Amino acid sequence: MSEIVKILDTTLRDGEQSPGASMNTEEKIQIAKQLEKLRVDIIEAGFAAASPGDFEAIKRISEIIKDSTVCSLARALEKDIKAAGEAIKPANKKRIHTFIATSDIHMKYKLKMSPDEVVKRAVEAVKYAKEFTDDVQFSCEDAGRSDMSFLKEIIDETIKAGATTINIPDTVGYRFPHEMGEMIKELYEFIQNRATIAVHCHNDLGLATANSLYSVLNGARQIECTINGLGERAGNAALEEVVMAIKTRNDIFKDITTNINTKEIYPTSRLVATITGIEPQPNKAIVGKNAFAHESGIHQDGVLKHKQTYEIMRAEDIGLETNAIVLGKHSGRHAFKEKIKSLGFDLKEDELNKAFERFKVLADRKKEITDDDLRMIITSELTTVPQIYKLKKLQINDCSEGVPSAAVTIEYNGKDITDAGIGDGTIDAIFKTIDRISGFNGTLNDYKVKAVSKGKDALAKVVVKVVFDKNKPAVIGHGLSIDTMLASAKAYIGALNSYIFMKDILKTKRCQEEEEI
Ligand code: KIV
Ligand code: ZN
Repeated sequence: MSEIVKILDTTLRDGEQSPGASMNTEEKIQIAKQLEKLRVDIIEAGFAAASPGDFEAIKRISEIIKDSTVCSLARALEKDIKAAGEAIKPANKKRIHTFIATSDIHMKYKLKMSPDEVVKRAVEAVKYAKEFTDDVQFSCEDAGRSDMSFLKEIIDETIKAGATTINIPDTVGYRFPHEMGEMIKELYEFIQNRATIAVHCHNDLGLATANSLYSVLNGARQIECTINGLGERAGNAALEEVVMAIKTRNDIFKDITTNINTKEIYPTSRLVATITGIEPQPNKAIVGKNAFAHESGIHQDGVLKHKQTYEIMRAEDIGLETNAIVLGKHSGRHAFKEKIKSLGFDLKEDELNKAFERFKVLADRKKEITDDDLRMIITSELTTVPQIYKLKKLQINDCSEGVPSAAVTIEYNGKDITDAGIGDGTIDAIFKTIDRISGFNGTLNDYKVKAVSKGKDALAKVVVKVVFDKNKPAVIGHGLSIDTMLASAKAYIGALNSYIFMKDILKTKRCQEEEEI
């Protein structure tokens, strides 16, 4: 019988702390459903007390997800734990993850608390969390730089208070793999089977995956990680890396395995990259564009003769189809439906109809529709918020001469409104005209454009980050079109719709820990 290493995915919490990765509720739900399909054991869906938006997203995810445990983070504070407990209440399987810092530097300068006060606060937090669920995880923040005897003391007390998982975060990515392994070994011998040991490794020195794997070899039975390695600063251990390392090197991990359905790794990576607008670097292990590409003649020759000469994993095992059927303008509904199913999407009839319409429009202008094009179409179909403003027409002048200008028609409340304006460039003219029509005044914080597939007729995917109210966080908008200007207009209107949809639950940025603890 193999032993399972549980996977806690924190893409929706620590991953969302990546600069520029904030997501709206619908997008978070879409990712949570995909994480369930990937069969992660625990989905850390957010930090309920951080904002009404986080609370709402965790609650909705708790209502929808059935197989994975849904978890909310909470500082060791009564109000945080209460918010977490209420947000996860509808979940089939629920967990509260409470934490407090345990390193001297954090206790002295950040918390301004004595070690005894920290232990007391941690114990109270765990006991209170137990009122909402039996499944309580306690984290010693900055454990990587904490004193071992203090760690043992606080772990002992929190286990006695009811913690069932003890998490050892290397919060600042400081440890080396052999050090991490030694620490986990000593804690494993101390804790024995009184609680599951988890690790949460950050990647500041590029060691997050190695540190997580060494921890497993020394007794950890839960890894916390994110899709594409997203996360605070340099990110967290990447789920795809730890899972594929355990699977590929089963000679080292012997009877240890994960519950992950690895064929969902690539689709999950694409979904997260599409929604956050943060693409993994091309040479990113497992999911980067080049991870299975062979450029040099010697390598190509070897792979053609025998794949294993240069490949230690099969692309199919992560769900990357190399011989995928390509759809085109003559493909019918049946082929479309089958293709969508093979990409792992489970669409309702009306969603399928809308996606098919979009596919047909695109197929009229683009010869071959690739898997990535389809993923993009479906994702944007599934994650849009209500279209309060809808782009009907866009006309731009020849931007090589004269003043850049744009004429825009938008449908609002069942009526078409048209206006025209000028700007410093064509995109500026488009966005200013949209502002004039809608009465909002957005500040563009980020603009990214990416070709979804190869070829001159590739779909352009535009991601914008816009601030509509300087007291609230930026919102993200996505636009997809064969025409970059059209995609830009759609993205900006998408951000505006998202802002209007969420403005009551968007709060001034994440609450500051040092203010409160
Ligand atoms: O990095 C960290 O220490 C964390 C904890 C809240 C688990 O994210
Ligand atoms: Zn973290």
